[in-house]
This record gives sequence, C-alpha cells and structure tokens, in this order.
Amino acid sequence: RLKIVAIGGGSSYTPELVEGFIKRYDHLPVRELWLVDIPEGEEKLNIVGNLAKRMVNKAGLPIRIHLTLDRQQALQGADFVITQFRVGGLRARALDEKIPLRYGVIGQETNGPGGLFKGLRTIPVILDICKEMETLCPDAWLINFTNPAGMVTEAILRYSPLTKVAGLCNIPVGMKMSVAQMLQVEPERIHIDFAGLNHMVFGLNVYLDGQNITGQIIDRIAQGDTSGIRAKNIIDLGWEKEFIKALGILPCPYHRYYFQTEKMLAEEQEQARKTGTRAEVVQKVEAELFEKYKDPKLAAKPPELEQRGGAYYSDAACNLIDSIYHDRKDIQTVNVKNQGAIASIPHDSAVEINCVITASGPKPIAIGDLPIPVRGLVQQIKSFERVAAEAAVTGNYHTALLAMTINPLVPSDSAAKKILDEMLKAHQKYLPQF
Ligand code: NAD
Ligand code: G6P
Ligand code: MN
Ligand code: MN
Repeated sequence: RLKIVAIGGGSSYTPELVEGFIKRYDHLPVRELWLVDIPEGEEKLNIVGNLAKRMVNKAGLPIRIHLTLDRQQALQGADFVITQFRVGGLRARALDEKIPLRYGVIGQETNGPGGLFKGLRTIPVILDICKEMETLCPDAWLINFTNPAGMVTEAILRYSPLTKVAGLCNIPVGMKMSVAQMLQVEPERIHIDFAGLNHMVFGLNVYLDGQNITGQIIDRIAQGDTSGIRAKNIIDLGWEKEFIKALGILPCPYHRYYFQTEKMLAEEQEQARKTGTRAEVVQKVEAELFEKYKDPKLAAKPPELEQRGGAYYSDAACNLIDSIYHDRKDIQTVNVKNQGAIASIPHDSAVEINCVITASGPKPIAIGDLPIPVRGLVQQIKSFERVAAEAAVTGNYHTALLAMTINPLVPSDSAAKKILDEMLKAHQKYLPQF
C-alpha cells in the first residue's frame, strides 16, 4: 500500500515513471501517486497528470493519481518521495549554458558554472523539502533526481538530518544497457563496477557472465565504437585512441568536458549558433511532447521521449524503490554517503557507487581507491561540490567565487568573477539567499 510523491510532477519524464509503476504493480502495489508542482508548472502538471490517469485506467489498476500544488499535503505519510524539479525551468538552464560560453567556458547543465548555478538555485528548495519530510513523513525515502544530483546529495548529507536519502542518475544503468547492446547480449549478463561521483563516474571493470572483459571493451572504444559510453544530450567526438588505452577504464559521457575541453567548447559554440544550446533544443522537444500528451486518445509513453537524455531514468527509480521495499539485496549504482568505500574521498561525502540495496537502504561496496590518474580530478570535483553546497546554503559571495574558481573548467580567478557576477544577476529571481 505504497504512497509515492513526485515533486516536479509536471516533468515530461513523469509518464515513464507511471509506466514503471504499472509494469511492476503485481509486486510493487502503489496505491497513491501524488504529482506535485508549483503554480508556474500547473498547466504541465495537468497535461501530464491526465495522461497518467489515462495510462492507469487503461491498465485497469487501482493506482490513484493526485495532482496538487500543495506540497505539504502531498508529503503527509509518504513512503517514497521522488524529486525531479527544475528551479527556473529550461529558461534558467539556457542561461547556464549561454553565459559561460561568452567567456570561452563550457556551458553545461551540471558541469562548470552552469552546474554551480543549478545547484545554487536547487539546494535551498531541496533543503526545504527535507525539513518538511522530517515531520510529515519521517520514515520516507527521498530519491533525488534533481540535478546537479551529486552536489544536491552532498548538500542533503551535510545540511539535513535526514538519512534515508539516495541520489540517482540514469548514466550508469544507461552505460550497462549500451554495453550490452554493443555486445548484443541481455543486459543481465553485464556487470560494471561503477565508482566516482555523479556525472564523474568511471566503469572500473566490465564483466560478461562474470568474466572480466574490460580490455575488450576498451579496445572497441579505442577503435571508435563509443556506443557503450554515449548520452543523447552530449556531443560524441570520439576518443583519442591511445588515451583510452592508457586510461584503461570506462569514462562516462560527461568526462568529455574534462578530457576534451577545447574540442567540446568549439562544438558547443557552433551548436549554439546553429541550433541553439541543448536547453533550446530540449524546449522544442518538450513542446512537441506536450502536444502529444494532450491527445485524449494517448494512454502510453510516446517514443519521442527517448530524444531526451534521461532514458532509463524511471527504471532506475522504480528498481531502487522495489529493492528497498523488498529487501532484494541486489546491486545498483546510487549516490550515497561514501563511508570509506572510496578511500580518497571523505567518509561523509556523497559518492556515486555500486551499492547493495537492502530494506535499510543502499550499502556502498568498497572499491579501495580510484586509479591514480583520475583520483585528483574526482577529488577536485568533490571539493567543488562541497564549496558550492556551502555557498548555496549561506549565500556567501566569496564562497561562491571560490567554488567557481576551483572548478577545473574555469580557467582563472578573473574569468570566474566575471561569470559569477553576470550569472548572479541573470538568476537573481531564483537566488533569494544572495
Ligand atoms: P522540467 O523543466 O520539466 O521540470 C519539471 C517540473 O519541475 C516542472 O513542471 C516545473 O514546473 C517543476 N518545478 C520547478 N520548480 C519547482 C519547485 N520549486 N517545486 C516543485 N516543482 C518545481 O525538468 P525535467 O527536464 O523534467 O527535469 C527535471 C529535473 O530532473 C532536472 O533537475 C533535471 O536536471 C533532472 N534530471 C535528472 C536526471 C538524472 O540523471 N539525475 C535525469 C533526467 C532529469
Ligand atoms: C542525462 C543525465 C541527466 C540529465 C539529462 C539531460 O541523462 O544523466 O542527469 O538531466 O541527461 O537530458 P536533456 O534531454 O534534458 O538534455
Ligand atoms: Mn544524470
Ligand atoms: Mn579553475
């Protein structure tokens, strides 16, 4: 008899979540699904919510869908709270992508200055939600998708007493599926040892039926087959063959921003001119999707949703909920407190790592440590996330400047200050703490 709450319920991804619950209904009996949004999102909430109701009706299941702008009413007695909101919407994302580009810096949703500002806008809201959960549903699990998911999880671990918290990303499960597809085998036969941070995660070993085939996969990537490590929202410029061989582990799609900065920047500049930034592309995809969603005959997730970067996202959420609910003790990749699983990352920081999923939550599987060539970068990003989270909570200008400057994608203190000042002004409406 589960009560699930999705905050940011008007998201175009919601039908995928509903599909996930319908598919699992026989063993995961969701009785109530509350979709929560804010007044600006009410129209989207209604369109998506009505589609969700049609999907449930068509499946003939007694899942009650509630649409509301009253978050506290929704949270009351919840078992699982899924957060998937975007403070400031795609318009704010477009600014995150465009402003840094003008200073010759990568403009991206979760990396560099854009990631910092998405965090500054998001963290106060998520901490408010945590506060409400303490009294309205103290036993509930918070499953956060809201980006930057790593920084957000870090902030929750440091600034909220909640402990039942897991950050989720579709990249690890997406990489596992893509590697399986590349080898034309069932995904269940593939296992990848994932460790690192959100959007900074590495596949340390790849196994097929328990046999380590990492070398084989690395060879395929070196030969130009990058299909196993791609994402819809990230430009694929291939990888330098000898670099990938020397690295010897699987990078995630986001590592391109760090190891191919110059090329990625040039490509971003060109795309911004030709088609607009990713947010502008996504605005069009989303408008088309919502036109489809309005069709009263539609009662399923349309295939066009696959143009978004978040494929398999609902599977990740539903699988995690299912395994916690049933104490399945299977392995999933989750953002949780490190607790020594990666030696070079602080014990109390968030890491993205393979976990055993139990009724008392995800238990990280220790890997020892990350390989030396990537260890420093991962530590640096963790320091960035910590300083950024502190800036989001305190609203301290100097802390924000420090976060901006220590980010590896920002080349200097003066560039950092210029970008920070312009972005603080542009996003003022969503940054009450500054
Ligand atoms: P979206 O722009 O459709 O936003 C979803 C909803 O959030 C909107 O209906 C909006 O009105 C609502 N919203 C905005 N501020 C809110 C607030 N304060 N409280 C409640 N609702 C609010 O975004 P989307 O593309 O569906 O993505 C949603 C979020 O999920 C983003 O943060 C995105 O980065 C993230 N995401 C993460 C992953 C992952 O791998 N972790 C995958 C996909 C999406
Ligand atoms: C990937 C990431 C998500 C991100 C999404 C962006 O799936 O894991 O964290 O939100 O891509 O996709 P979009 O279609 O919005 O560019
Ligand atoms: Mn992600
Ligand atoms: Mn820097």
